[in-house]
Amino acid sequence: MPDDQSVDYSLLGEQLDALLKDESDPLANAAMFVALVFDALPDTNWLGIYVLRDDELVLGPFQGKPACIRIPMGRGVCGGAAEQMTTFRVSDVHDFDGHIACDPASRSELVVPLISDGRLLGVLDIDSPQLARFSDHDQEGVESLCELFIKSLERKNGAAIEFI
Ligand code: SME
Repeated sequence: MPDDQSVDYSLLGEQLDALLKDESDPLANAAMFVALVFDALPDTNWLGIYVLRDDELVLGPFQGKPACIRIPMGRGVCGGAAEQMTTFRVSDVHDFDGHIACDPASRSELVVPLISDGRLLGVLDIDSPQLARFSDHDQEGVESLCELFIKSLERKNGAAIEFI
């Protein structure tokens, strides 16, 4: 397998669109999004959405072991990415000050904020048991999938999205 672990994000985007196009329920679509991406990314042990509720991140649809339910803004990798509204890619979570260890097997992490119309809805969090699992290719690919997911929510629900 090549270094980028060979995920075809363009094909994955087409599959995502096909899966979400006929359904308007945001919870069902979020669950489908998470299941599709987790299944497609090799060497990942956890993938899920934390939804922003009252200035706190709350666990939403996910795949993997049970995880922490609430993450305050600014805490951990998820809270950092949410607060700064930018992707956090961490090669070694042991070197990240304040990392929240939900699954001790996790060694690297990618967190992408979910933003609609300038408003933070939550984050997509992906963990891997491999050091430096996520490449530039993965980051760009996962960010593009998150945009497709958000666009699909917007098409069905308008600008004011209540996620779940
Ligand atoms: N590691 C995350 C917490 C969530 S779990 O990985 C599922 C963090 O530091 O924010």
